[in-house]
This record gives sequence, structure tokens and C-alpha cells, in this order.
Amino acid sequence: MGGDFVSMFQLETKKLLWLIGITFAMILSFQYLELPYGNVLFSLFTSNKIPISQTIDTNKTIVNNVTIFNQENSTNEFTIEKANATKDSVSITGFLLEPGFDESNKSSIVDDSVKSLGNVSNAQKVEENVVSTNLTQGFDSTINVSPNVTTAVLSNDDNKSSLSQKSISPVPKENQETHATIPQVTTVSEMKKLLLQSHVSYRSMKPRWFSDVDQELLQARSEIENAPIVKNDPKLYGPIYHNVSMFKRSYELMEERLKVYVYKEGARPILHSPFLTGIYASEGWFMKLMEANKRFVTKNPKKAHLFYLPFSSRMLEEALYVKDSHSHKNLIQYLHDYVDLIAARYSFWNRTGGADHFLVGCHDWAPSETKLRLTNCIRSLCNADVKEGFVFGKDASLPETYVRNAQNPTRDLGGNTFKKKTVLAFFAGSMHGYVRPILLKHWENKDPDMKIFGKLPKAKGNSNYIHYMKSSKYCICARGYEVNSPRVVEAIFYECVPVIISDNFVPPFFEVLNWESFAVIVLEKDIPNLKNILLSIPEKRYLRLLMRVKKVQQHFLWHKNPVKYDLFHMILHSIWYNRVFSATS
Ligand SMILES: *[C@@H]1O[C@H](CO)[C@@H](O)[C@H](O)[C@H]1NC(C)=O
Ligand SMILES: *[C@@H]1O[C@H](CO)[C@@H](O)[C@H](O)[C@H]1NC(C)=O
Ligand SMILES: *[C@@H]1O[C@H](CO)[C@@H](O)[C@H](O)[C@H]1NC(C)=O
Ligand SMILES: *[C@@H]1O[C@H](CO)[C@@H](O)[C@H](O)[C@H]1NC(C)=O
Ligand SMILES: *[C@@H]1O[C@H](CO)[C@@H](O)[C@H](O)[C@H]1NC(C)=O
Ligand SMILES: *[C@@H]1O[C@H](CO)[C@@H](O)[C@H](O)[C@H]1NC(C)=O
Ligand SMILES: *[C@@H]1O[C@H](CO)[C@@H](O)[C@H](O)[C@H]1NC(C)=O
Ligand SMILES: *[C@@H]1O[C@H](CO)[C@@H](O)[C@H](O)[C@H]1NC(C)=O
Ligand SMILES: *[C@@H]1O[C@H](CO)[C@@H](O)[C@H](O)[C@H]1NC(C)=O
Ligand SMILES: *[C@@H]1O[C@H](CO)[C@@H](O)[C@H](O)[C@H]1NC(C)=O
Ligand SMILES: *[C@@H]1O[C@H](CO)[C@@H](O)[C@H](O)[C@H]1NC(C)=O
Repeated sequence: MGGDFVSMFQLETKKLLWLIGITFAMILSFQYLELPYGNVLFSLFTSNKIPISQTIDTNKTIVNNVTIFNQENSTNEFTIEKANATKDSVSITGFLLEPGFDESNKSSIVDDSVKSLGNVSNAQKVEENVVSTNLTQGFDSTINVSPNVTTAVLSNDDNKSSLSQKSISPVPKENQETHATIPQVTTVSEMKKLLLQSHVSYRSMKPRWFSDVDQELLQARSEIENAPIVKNDPKLYGPIYHNVSMFKRSYELMEERLKVYVYKEGARPILHSPFLTGIYASEGWFMKLMEANKRFVTKNPKKAHLFYLPFSSRMLEEALYVKDSHSHKNLIQYLHDYVDLIAARYSFWNRTGGADHFLVGCHDWAPSETKLRLTNCIRSLCNADVKEGFVFGKDASLPETYVRNAQNPTRDLGGNTFKKKTVLAFFAGSMHGYVRPILLKHWENKDPDMKIFGKLPKAKGNSNYIHYMKSSKYCICARGYEVNSPRVVEAIFYECVPVIISDNFVPPFFEVLNWESFAVIVLEKDIPNLKNILLSIPEKRYLRLLMRVKKVQQHFLWHKNPVKYDLFHMILHSIWYNRVFSATS
């Protein structure tokens, strides 16, 4: 395993090791928080801008005191292991760039201003494609190393205008158990099986004492499982759901019966301060609308089926993350203290071990922040990644979406008619993560039908981007640093059939929506074959997909005052549905 660094490197001259993750992440996260449609500009850390171009010093060795080796002799997968276990502090940041990027030298490194990411202290846990390092704080930092990455687009990245960039990216993650039993890719049909299996077998902890709400949940479950068959509902188009009858019944029961207790405890800004803009807006809008809700919120916790922990993963990062610390240990600790407080002050947490408690978090870090103490909670997460510990039947996939226009959510909705969809497939965005560079390598400037770009030049109101979405048949939603991307919902807004390229991503509202009926899901490994895959879809089937995309729109719209079947209600419904199906007698 150890391998000689130099010889390995020579073997790998064609390949690029891009430890973007950390590097960009950290730079970018302090650089900007970009917002959609150019209508708001809100930068938290403008004073900390670091021009990326200055951080690259082309003639250094790749990674200080780090051995790069290749686990399976495969030519395209790198794993990094820190070799120098004797050192207390090692930096493991670097870009291994292919010759094309730096003709003179095959290696490049980020200079000291960025190198600080590492500070690693110990022997490493190594998984395939994964680098694990121990932060000095004692937490593991797990970084995905990109396979098959061939280009590094560093420019443009400090120039944020596209709709879909992230302000934050790969994350210091807490210790992770190995996911030995999880296959490399869980396909959507396997996900469906896992979901159904969970209904049969996944049960939360048996309550320490039984209460009326448990009985009500069991009753609701029985009613959903025996739902009257829905034939033609004017608001619910059957084919887009796994089972429209069950969804309709479950939704009705939620409206009739669900009671949610919202904990008043917790100091602002991390608790009770909804952050309403940007790519993490979903969690903020949900918090705002939930706390203000009259229908579902109860002041009597004994009547509650669900307990909401109203924290914002976005605010948590903003308030507590120590720049350059590369640790979110203190963020996790904050949540643990909060749970301790709740568990000490009320009996409800201990009654179910947290199983009737829920949180809604859109930040990339939310899964790892909530993995330990909050592991039994129902977690509604944008970063819904099977490999990040997403539990079918318990956790829910939260849509990542900008809030277009909460006053008038249907404004500017829609796309061109089929005849005016002149582009086969469209993608534009920064080179976050390992998939997008592969996509561009295969399709940028390769085929006139495939409009696959890096970041589009800035245009007023993002008109280029929106124009392309509206006039394309398919919109490619390739994962960024994490599995989720706001493109999925954007494509739905602009009536472009989403093509999700993000292995192990659990699409939003997976409990009820049958994604394969209105979206195309392509495995990352099939990128070279993308055009053929899309062309193999007959026009008739395409038109059906397109029609269904329109039918699903209502579920992705925010309203200032929530309306039936809108995004707010769908988020709550997924949580309710999971609770109903996991409740134990
Ligand atoms: C590890 O550290 C030791 C002592 O500082 C040094 O001699 C050795 O060269 C280092 N190993 C690598 C791979 O850099
Ligand atoms: C790795 O390479 C070595 C030597 O080239 C070879 O003996 C070994 O079988 C290879 N391992 C795999 C998994 O391909
Ligand atoms: C890497 O190893 C070299 C040689 O052992 C040592 O001089 C240097 O300080 C080490 N760098 C770090 C960051 O530990
Ligand atoms: C960097 O590499 C270039 C090309 O190989 C070389 O001309 C230059 O002197 C190097 N700079 C340093 C600081 O080593
Ligand atoms: C790469 O950089 C090193 C050190 O800066 C230099 O000695 C070497 O000649 C360079 N390699 C190439 C191929 O230019
Ligand atoms: C790295 O560790 C050293 C010594 O433990 C410490 O002085 C330094 O501040 C750390 N750097 C970062 C970026 O955490
Ligand atoms: C990380 O560090 C802790 C102590 O700081 C150690 O117990 C643990 O084994 C380390 N984990 C790995 C994967 O090296
Ligand atoms: C939907 O669920 C209902 C209630 O469980 C069941 O009767 C019906 O057969 C299901 N429909 C389909 C298409 O699976
Ligand atoms: C719940 O359990 C925790 C840990 O076991 C305990 O400290 C706490 O006091 C309990 N809460 C209540 C309200 O009894
Ligand atoms: C952003 O990009 C636009 C066009 O690509 C360019 O005109 C502008 O100067 C760039 N801004 C920054 C801050 O780089
Ligand atoms: C990754 O590289 C391998 C070997 O070079 C190749 O077979 C495979 O098709 C590549 N995958 C993608 C998605 O480009």
C-alpha cells in the first residue's frame, strides 16, 4: 500500500488528483455566498477574499509528507494516505494536475495560504477513494478523492454568478463508521426496495411508555395502508407518485391530525433564526413557516406526534465555524449540548430516544453534524446521500432550491414548448466535485446537441442560464461536491426534464414521488454514453416525462402562506410519513 510516491506519480501522469474539496471549499466558503438571479448580494466574508490564482505555486511537490498510492492499480483512482505518521502536523492539500494544466511540471501545489487545511495528526483510515485524516482536534476529515478527473478549472471560481454554486463544500467530517455493507452505487430501483423494506422492518425504539400519540400513529398507518383507491384527482396526477392513493390518504391524515411541538429553547442565531436566501434557503423557509404555523403546531407537547428542533445548519456554520480550523467539532458539540438540554428538561426525548424528533438541514455539513447524538431523529437533509448514512424509512430528502419568488411563486415558471426546445441537453456550472470535470471532458464542445459548459459568463438575472434551461429538452443535474444540486428543482421550474447524474443521491420526497416517471437518472459511469442514453428515449416517452415535470412543479414551490401540496407541506409530509411508518407499538 505504501508505494513509492515518485514512481506512482509517474504511472499516473495522465491523471489528476484534485483535492479540491477542502481547498476550494475553504477558500470559497469565505469568499462569497452567492445568490440567485442577481437580485440580492449578500456576502458574509467579503473581506476574506482570496484570489485563487494567487494560491497556486506551480513548482512545489505535490503533497507534503503524503504518500499517494493506488489501491487497486487502477489507473484512475487515487487514494491518499498520510505516510508520515510520526509527524504531528502534516498538510495534505494539493492538486495533482495533469500536464496539460501545467505544461512545465506535472505537479502543482497550493501554497501555504491554503495548505493549512491539513493539520493531521495520526495514522489514517483509508477507504476506496477516500482520504481520512485525523484533525488535530481528534476528528476525522474525510475527503472524497476524485477518480477520472482530467481538468481543473480554477478560474472563474471566484466569480460567482451561476445559479448553482455552493458557498461551502467538502467538509471536515466526524468519525465515520465504514460503510462496508453499502454497495458502490445504490440505484434508484434499489432505493425503492430499501424504502419498502424499511416499512416492513424499520422500527424506531419502543417508547418507554405508551401514549395516545403512539396509538394515533398506528391508526394512521393502518388507514394509509388501506387507502381508498384514487382514480382521478384533479390536483394529483397519479403516475408521478409511487402510490397516489397512499400519498393522498397520508396527506389528508397529516392535515387532520398531525401535531408538532416546536421547542422554544435555544438561543439565536443558531436556533430560531431562519436564513431565507441562498442555496440553503429550504431549511430557513421551513423553519419560518413551521414556527408560525397555526394548523400543526401545538403548545401541548403531550399531544405532539413530532418534535421540531429548530436549528439552522447554515447559521450553525456561520456562527461557530472557526475559519481555517477544518473542524466542526464545536458545531457538533453545540448540537449535542442542545439535545442534552432538551432531554434533561423534557421527558419526550428519552421516551423514544429522539425518534419522534426531527430537524431540517440543507447545509452540506448537516448529515455529519447530526450523525451521532441526533442519529435517531428524523433528518430532512438536502445532502441526502446513501453513503453519508441516509436511512430509508427514517430520513427524508429535502429539496435544495433558491426561493424564486415567494410572493408570486408561479412567476416566470415554465419553459419552451417541445417544438421550441432546440437543445438536447444543457449543463453549466463550476467544476465542483469529481463528476463535472468528467462530464465536460466528454461533452464540452464535442457535439452541437450537447450544450455542456463550465461556468457561463455572467448575465443579468442569469438570463443565459435560464434561457438554456427553458430551451433544452434535458437539463443535466450533475452532482457538485455533494450529491445534491439546486439544478434538479430549477429544471422542474423551467420545464426541462432533469437528468440526475449523482450516484447514491436520494431524490427529494422519495417516499412519495416516483422520480423515474418524470426524470432520467444516469449513473456516473455512463457519462461517456450520455447522448445515446438521451437519444434512446423516444419522443413519445419524452413528451410524457415533460408533461409530468409540469405536474410535479406544485410540490417545489414556496408560498408565503403555505398552500396545499406545496413545498412546505411536502417537507412536513415526508417527515410525518416516515414517523407513521416507523412508529412502534
Ligand atoms: C516522515 O518524517 C520523517 C521524520 O521527520 C522524515 O525523515 C521522513 O522523510 C518523512 N517521510 C515522508 C514520506 O515524508
Ligand atoms: C497491481 O500491480 C502489481 C504489479 O504490477 C500486480 O502484480 C498486481 O496483481 C496488481 N494488482 C491488481 C489488483 O491489479
Ligand atoms: C515533511 O517532511 C519533511 C522532511 O521530513 C519535513 O522537513 C517537513 O517539515 C515536513 N512537513 C510537514 C508539514 O510536516
Ligand atoms: C518552475 O518551473 C518552471 C518550468 O519548469 C521553471 O522554469 C521555474 O524555474 C520553476 N520555478 C521554481 C521556483 O522552481
Ligand atoms: C518541475 O519543478 C522542479 C522543481 O521546481 C524542477 O526541478 C523540474 O525541472 C520541473 N520539471 C519539469 C518537467 O519542468
Ligand atoms: C496546526 O498544528 C500546529 C501545531 O499543532 C498549530 O500550531 C497550527 O496552528 C495548526 N494549524 C492549523 C491550521 O490548525
Ligand atoms: C484519530 O485520533 C485519535 C486520537 O486523537 C485516535 O484514537 C484514532 O485512532 C485516530 N483515528 C485514526 C483513523 O487514525
Ligand atoms: C396503492 O396502495 C393501496 C393501499 O395500500 C393499494 O390498495 C393499491 O393497490 C396500491 N396501488 C398500487 C398501484 O400499488
Ligand atoms: C433523559 O436521559 C438522560 C440521559 O440518560 C438524563 O440525563 C436525563 O435526565 C433524562 N431526562 C429526563 C427528563 O429524565
Ligand atoms: C466575472 O466574470 C465576468 C465575465 O466573465 C467579468 O467581466 C468580471 O470581471 C468577473 N468578475 C470578477 C470579480 O472576476
Ligand atoms: C474512468 O476511467 C476508466 C479507465 O480509464 C474508464 O474505463 C471509465 O470509463 C472512466 N469513467 C468515466 C466516467 O469517464
